[in-house]
Amino acid sequence: MADLSTSYLGLHLKNPLIIASSTLVQNVKGIKEAEAAGAGAVVLRSLFEEIIREETQKQQGEVYSGHPEEYDYILSELNLQYGPQNYLKLISEAKTKVKIPVVASINCTSPKWWLSYAKQVEQAGADALELNLSLMPTDPGKTSLDIEQEFLNVIKAARDNIKLPIAVKIGPYFTSLSRFANQMCGSGIKGLVLFNRFYQFDIDIDQNEIVGVNWYSHPSEMSLSLRWISILYRHINCELAATTGIHDAKAVIKQLLAGAQVVEIASTIYLNGFTVVKKILSELTTWMDQHHYQKISDFRGKLSLSKQKNPELYERLQYIKALTGIEK
Ligand SMILES: Cc1cc2nc3c(=O)[nH]c(=O)nc-3n(C[C@H](O)[C@H](O)[C@H](O)COP(=O)(O)O)c2cc1C
Repeated sequence: MADLSTSYLGLHLKNPLIIASSTLVQNVKGIKEAEAAGAGAVVLRSLFEEIIREETQKQQGEVYSGHPEEYDYILSELNLQYGPQNYLKLISEAKTKVKIPVVASINCTSPKWWLSYAKQVEQAGADALELNLSLMPTDPGKTSLDIEQEFLNVIKAARDNIKLPIAVKIGPYFTSLSRFANQMCGSGIKGLVLFNRFYQFDIDIDQNEIVGVNWYSHPSEMSLSLRWISILYRHINCELAATTGIHDAKAVIKQLLAGAQVVEIASTIYLNGFTVVKKILSELTTWMDQHHYQKISDFRGKLSLSKQKNPELYERLQYIKALTGIEK
């Protein structure tokens, strides 16, 4: 029978299916459920830089420097069940209760406040750190280079201060993603998670307010990460984790064929329960057996751009083929 085991960020995983950072894995119960369902690893729900800042300033007897309502707003909006200290407890308890790797997650926009905390995350026993770099480029005065430099500053500070293997989770909005991904991956991180799914913005025209919609992804959203995994595989010095819109075994297989080292899933579990993990793994095994693949490395990246003889022509031809296909 096919061997699903793989490595990611220097860790051994029994399979490439990771439960993405979310409320599914915000407590030991959820983490144990993830392991029982068969997941290869979990990425804990993120702790936010703003929460660490509040805690740090409180400890130092300082007045919170953010907007007065910001902290309460973040806590209530996100229904966060833990602050920094409880997060550390969650990591250390999880490490005694499950055997699968536990990846901590910090959501940040700058290298301030959370670096010394990240050392405690390391001491608490986390196996790796996923940094969710959620910088919305709203400032018209900033160039794309300015914004990329902000990302690189965070990555450098993290790399200089933390020994844990680091993966960086980013959104898709970059002018020259290949170049920038190459730069990030040359800065000492081990993994790149493509792509973060941002809050889906909408406006309630009766209440006159901004609201969030479509909390869960749709399978059609996967094509963006599929394309970029395929383009970046073997072109950058990082392992690639695919996320957003991966709902079933076929989607997982496609991402692996494109070059993903692992996949991270959340929405399909919210919609179908943890049993979907077992179903995906069973269908992945069947598919590998049918195609006589003994291990994942036998087919990982087989349909990546790097395997095409003439990558530029390949991309262009797919595009032309797609457009002419519409008329048929
Ligand atoms: C309810 C919910 C909570 C989430 N919380 C986090 C979080 O704390 N940190 C993070 O990096 N991503 C978070 N995400 C994003 C997921 O990790 C994942 O990247 C995204 O949902 C796309 O994957 P999917 O299509 O399988 O849902 C959350 C997603 C959902 C649905």
